[in-house]
Amino acid sequence: MTQPDPSRFFDQKIADNYDVQADNLKAIGDNLHLLIGLVLQDLPDDARILCVGAGTGTEIVHLAALHPNWRFVALEPSPEMLAKCREKMEKHGFDERCRHVNGFLKDIAPGESFDAVLCLLVTQFMLDPEERQAMFDGMARRLRAGGYLINAEISYDVRSAAFDAMAQKWGAMRKKSGATKDDTAQIIAMMLKHVAVAPPAAIEAMLKKSGFAMPILFFQSLFIHAWYSQK
Ligand SMILES: C[S@@+](CC[C@H](N)C(=O)[O-])C[C@H]1O[C@@H](n2cnc3c(N)ncnc32)[C@H](O)[C@@H]1O
Repeated sequence: MTQPDPSRFFDQKIADNYDVQADNLKAIGDNLHLLIGLVLQDLPDDARILCVGAGTGTEIVHLAALHPNWRFVALEPSPEMLAKCREKMEKHGFDERCRHVNGFLKDIAPGESFDAVLCLLVTQFMLDPEERQAMFDGMARRLRAGGYLINAEISYDVRSAAFDAMAQKWGAMRKKSGATKDDTAQIIAMMLKHVAVAPPAAIEAMLKKSGFAMPILFFQSLFIHAWYSQK
């Protein structure tokens, strides 16, 4: 299966609008980031965190503000998104604590070990199930024993009876973000074209296959689900 190049999809236009749209749904992002902070609160004072698909760096800003000695790697294949991340780190004074890597997981040495890996709203773009599984494997390899993986995904059982009703609410949410003026049918058609929407049980099975014995679903907002797992 041909995997679209994410650095093409997350282009300058999307990078310019990404935070504007996220701000329109700030309550959802704030809830997720608050809970991630709680999940990770017991990590050591000098923890090292890898953010895979860091985008504009919002998750890093939240954690860097809470933990002045934590250090971060922002891994991001889109140069435009990474540039926004860099700007944000400079604006908040976190640039000294954040290494920016323009690339993919293969560009982080497998020997480099982290206390936590965050991968928020990224693996859903892996349309090939084997590549998606390989990404979970790669993140597991870069975690120290006891380290945390936090992954958020657009996830739902598209064959369930509730899917159409949820899709209506999802469409309303996408419009509220300002991302689109399309009608719900078009929004859902685009989502199913570009995103591999797998049911929560399938995501949990992938996490287990990558060695995470007990993925814990700690957040859901419409189709967005987030799990934490320990190695
Ligand atoms: C929806 S954004 C999420 C950004 C950020 N994590 C957030 O929650 O705001 C998805 C990001 O993942 C990046 N991405 C897509 N495929 C990727 C891959 N295979 N490896 C790493 N990052 C990827 C995209 O370039 C994009 O910046």
